Amino acid sequence: MSEPGEGNTLWHGRFADGPSAALLAYTVSLPYDQRLAPEDLAGSRAHVRGLVRGGILDGEEAAAILGALETVEEELTEGRFRFLPSDEDIHTAIERRATELCPAGGKIHTGRSRNDQVATDLRLYTKRALRQVAAAVLGLQDVLQARAIEAGGAYLPGYTHLQRAQPVLLAHHLLAHAWSLARDVDRLLATRDRADVSPLGAGALAGSSLPLDPVGTALDLGFAAVFDNSLDAVSDRDFVAESLFDLALLGIHLSRMGEEVCLWASDEFGFLKLDDAWSTGSSMMPQKKNPDIAELARGKSGRLIGHLTGLLTTLKGLPLTYNRDLQEDKEPLFDSIDQVLLALEAMSGLLATSRFETEAMAAAADSPYAVATDLAEFLVEQGVPFRDAHAIVGEIVRTSLDGGGVMVDLVAAHPQLGPAAAALLAPGVSVTRRTTRGGAGPGPVADQLERFDARLAADRARVHGS
Ligand code: ARG
Repeated sequence: MSEPGEGNTLWHGRFADGPSAALLAYTVSLPYDQRLAPEDLAGSRAHVRGLVRGGILDGEEAAAILGALETVEEELTEGRFRFLPSDEDIHTAIERRATELCPAGGKIHTGRSRNDQVATDLRLYTKRALRQVAAAVLGLQDVLQARAIEAGGAYLPGYTHLQRAQPVLLAHHLLAHAWSLARDVDRLLATRDRADVSPLGAGALAGSSLPLDPVGTALDLGFAAVFDNSLDAVSDRDFVAESLFDLALLGIHLSRMGEEVCLWASDEFGFLKLDDAWSTGSSMMPQKKNPDIAELARGKSGRLIGHLTGLLTTLKGLPLTYNRDLQEDKEPLFDSIDQVLLALEAMSGLLATSRFETEAMAAAADSPYAVATDLAEFLVEQGVPFRDAHAIVGEIVRTSLDGGGVMVDLVAAHPQLGPAAAALLAPGVSVTRRTTRGGAGPGPVADQLERFDARLAADRARVHGS
């Protein structure tokens, strides 16, 4: 029998022949699960300490193994680690190398399976990655908050059906995106909490005959809880599916921001000028300046949704417990994390450096038609039922659109409206009349900015304290 370290798999004992090249090519996960190396080392160390507490390893053996793992870590971080073709994944590679470095390494895997090992590693990774994403979301929220404060009294049309509806403060519009991101932070942290359960000690699927200590290793690894059912522990990938959902929805929020950047940066809107460093040119048309970041934020949301539906489809109908299908959890998770982090950084930079064309915004918002609701509400204040008021103003709008006069004159001349109502059509007046909580005017937006600031501070404490 040949030994591991000579290019054998860790499971070669039962097999007369080595694996075929095609099998290895198809089944290896090493190219992408290498990023789990820090978590795998942490999990192995905790497991070794647990084996000591269980009396399975003596202090000397444990010290030798921990020393070997130290060397493995150095080799990996310094790029000196030599992977072998038989290394199926990072877990086998680390164990194989540790065993080469010290004879006691052959005891590392006592009572452990790659099934509980990979679930442990992936949960540790997910906890770390989700926090990193949440921190990056806070970064984008900082930008939106700063731009909202700086926007002061600037206003633009708010849209429904992509038709000009009512004027809103620019700060209000920017904060709308910032609040949707606050829900993303919430979701990421909640998913992180549900991922915070240690599966280590579940073994292949059934636990162990050896005196292992799942609670001790969970504590050692900083998990908040430990599995209750070994079958569930090795087959559960809910935390990956939830992460992919959170990332997909965050990606959808970014896509909606991206779409507005594309619209606003167009000549048709003219609300936004992109900074040169955050936009791209055309290879053929010299005049072009394109919002590629915003377009990719929009476009890549498709891929994030794809990763979610892909994993859900993989999980659907899988029998208990571990099946190799579960190896398909990693690439979508890693890619979604990477893509969302890149998108957050790029969108933060783009939004931090763009110039808002507040004159163009105001000009679009000062259309007399955008004040129609104010006119109806003016009539309501005179005791006119809202439905009648709506009809009266609607008729004036129709007359004006049909060429029967400009709005301000028609309003001033109307017996129930008159000059006081016509004054509402003056530039910038309408937006100041949104006074209710959470509304688009200066009063409620000032209150909102305070609440948002408090929320951001609380979320920052949750992200960095968790
Ligand atoms: N690379 C595998 C994965 O990511 C590790 C677990 C393999 N377990 C097994 N019993 N073949 O899922």
